[in-house]
Amino acid sequence: MISDRSNGLFGIYVHWPFCAAKCPYCDFNSHVRHDPIDERGFVAAYVRELNHFAALTKGKTVQSIFFGGGTPSLMDPVSVETILDCIALLWPAHPELEVTLEANPTSVEAERFKAYRHAGINRVSLGVQSLRPEPLARLGRMHSVAEAKLAVGIAQSVFERSSFDLIYARPHQTLNEWRDELNEALNMAVGHLSLYQLTIEQGTRYFDLRAAGKLPMPDADLSADFYLLTQELTAAAGLQAYEISNHARIGEESRHNLLYWHYGEYLGVGPGAHGRLLVDGVRYATAMEKNPENWAALVNKNGSGLITNDKLTWEEESDEYLLMGLRLRQGISLERYHQLSGRHLSPGQIKELTDIDFVEILSNGNLRVTDKGWPVLDAVVADLAM
Ligand SMILES: C[S@@+](CC[C@H](N)C(=O)[O-])C[C@H]1O[C@@H](n2cnc3c(N)ncnc32)[C@H](O)[C@@H]1O
Ligand code: SF4
Repeated sequence: MISDRSNGLFGIYVHWPFCAAKCPYCDFNSHVRHDPIDERGFVAAYVRELNHFAALTKGKTVQSIFFGGGTPSLMDPVSVETILDCIALLWPAHPELEVTLEANPTSVEAERFKAYRHAGINRVSLGVQSLRPEPLARLGRMHSVAEAKLAVGIAQSVFERSSFDLIYARPHQTLNEWRDELNEALNMAVGHLSLYQLTIEQGTRYFDLRAAGKLPMPDADLSADFYLLTQELTAAAGLQAYEISNHARIGEESRHNLLYWHYGEYLGVGPGAHGRLLVDGVRYATAMEKNPENWAALVNKNGSGLITNDKLTWEEESDEYLLMGLRLRQGISLERYHQLSGRHLSPGQIKELTDIDFVEILSNGNLRVTDKGWPVLDAVVADLAM
């Protein structure tokens, strides 16, 4: 049954926390282990955690499953299959269930793509990051440009839907270099492409390098130019942004990503995974223990690695809805905002932002951020949420 606070969307996020090496820009929950991990033991813990949460999420239909990381393409396809079989036993699946796996594009991993498809994966998202050798090396990547291109080709032949990620506005990068690189990427892309501006996160090697003055990052004006050039070239190629960093042909959007931005419900399992679950009409923000071995020990003891289970207030929920929904090209429904928060957004605030062309009201009544407003999205959200 769809309650007032639900929009009927439900997905499952499976976090696989291991990587072959740590990239200097990355602050995701990823861990490098020099000895082989007990993969079967970990898979048993995922199965146990899924069973634990099945009781709380009874009656929901799964629209999407996403294996993210870390590097899920280091998983044995049998492990992926075991987890998918477990999910199939616990929840009914939508007829167009989307099952994505994030993959790194080394040749070893590309060889597993067919086995992943047989395991039940129907979409891959590849972390290519750059199509140029020097930046790839500086980003600490373990694959060459040729390997990445080959992996994209294999992914496109094995899976009906695939995507790849690039990082731009990198140290040393010029606009002209990005224009060439992006045009090449647009020639390779089929339905979906994710383009992320490099962000410098605390606790990463890049953070220390920048602090030491050794990472020449683009200034705010150049970053804005990078962003505008990206929008222009992708739109011209028919891969318009449907969200700030995500581009797709119509109908090729990632359903799992859309579920987050439409503020649906999702169960996050695995070390460090986050979730948003509605239980008896209350939305909970969940998070699991980050350290993989400690997470598995907690699951074995308690049935789950849950360390955070916060009840969200209506205000917190509606702020999150704004933050997520305004990233979308189609914007947010003012009616849903009202349903979640019990109040209307201030018409005066909307008018002020409309007058300076940061937001607009669409013909269906949705509120969306304009091209001019997107580079200052956080400030727009903060103004509206006041
Ligand atoms: C979970 S990560 C990585 C998935 C996979 N392990 C890989 O490296 O290809 C998902 C994506 O986030 C992006 N990303 C990670 N850290 C970033 C950063 N600091 N700035 C911009 N994009 C970042 C990368 O494009 C990456 O492919
Ligand atoms: S970017 Fe990907 S491969 Fe690199 S450390 Fe982060 S999760 Fe691992």
